[in-house]
Amino acid sequence: MALIEARGLTRIHHLDSGRVVALDHVDLDIEAGDMVAVMGPSGSGKSTLMNLIGCLDRPSGGSLSLDGMATADLDANALAALRNRKIGFVFQQFNLLPRADAATNAELPMLYAGVDARTRRRRALDALARVGLADRSHHRPMQLSGGQQQRVAIARALVNDPRLLLADEPTGALDSRTALDILALFQQLNRDGMTVVLVTHDPEVARHAARVVRFRDGRIVGDTRQVPAAADGSDPGGGLPPMARPETAVLP
Ligand SMILES: Nc1ncnc2c1ncn2[C@@H]1O[C@H](COP(=O)(O)OP(=O)(O)O)[C@@H](O)[C@H]1O
Ligand SMILES: [Mg+2]
Repeated sequence: MALIEARGLTRIHHLDSGRVVALDHVDLDIEAGDMVAVMGPSGSGKSTLMNLIGCLDRPSGGSLSLDGMATADLDANALAALRNRKIGFVFQQFNLLPRADAATNAELPMLYAGVDARTRRRRALDALARVGLADRSHHRPMQLSGGQQQRVAIARALVNDPRLLLADEPTGALDSRTALDILALFQQLNRDGMTVVLVTHDPEVARHAARVVRFRDGRIVGDTRQVPAAADGSDPGGGLPPMARPETAVLP
């Protein structure tokens, strides 16, 4: 059984001006351990899909199961618990608390999970070390670069040891060099066993995933596998000789 199983997944918004079908009968399986890029133009349903998979929203129709659990059967509390235990979120704008230092920001999901203070601090520092910020735990967001802030957000997503990382345009606010660093971190986490689903409209970002699912008008219009390009530059060209990739810019 796949980690994520969507069947006929549909989300309709009812507005005064009429109905908006944000997601239209989507069938999608995502296997544990995969690294998937979700692409598509603005308004094609990417964030809607992420919000449903992340249990932040409920479908209008169809079914969604996560790690073998049918989400329709869960009440709001059970859904929140599933989200907190199994899923880590990363957003384009980092969403860090400005007055809290990196360690305190990384601790937040454990606060909601009722973890004691000592364990919270230890796990937050472990997660910061995992993202390469062991020496920045007392820095506040303003004292960190954009890439470092996104690393804190990734540490925060990791502290409850989730099965799944959901990232909605995680490199959208970063320059291309920093974006590559963040993609290299996602690839490292993926090699360590994490399932990663990231939304992007940028083909350069999607090259680093093993599978690319394309949306348009709330439907899947493409689903391909590829040899992911290595974001750390160890294999520029994604396993293919450069001549076979004329569309690809040379990495800095
Ligand atoms: N809360 C909402 N109310 C009404 N329409 C919405 C809402 N959220 C999203 N939509 C609409 O659903 C469609 C898909 O949106 P979204 O999933 O955010 O697209 P994407 O992330 O691909 O840009 C768009 O047409 C959008 O306007
Ligand atoms: Mg979006």
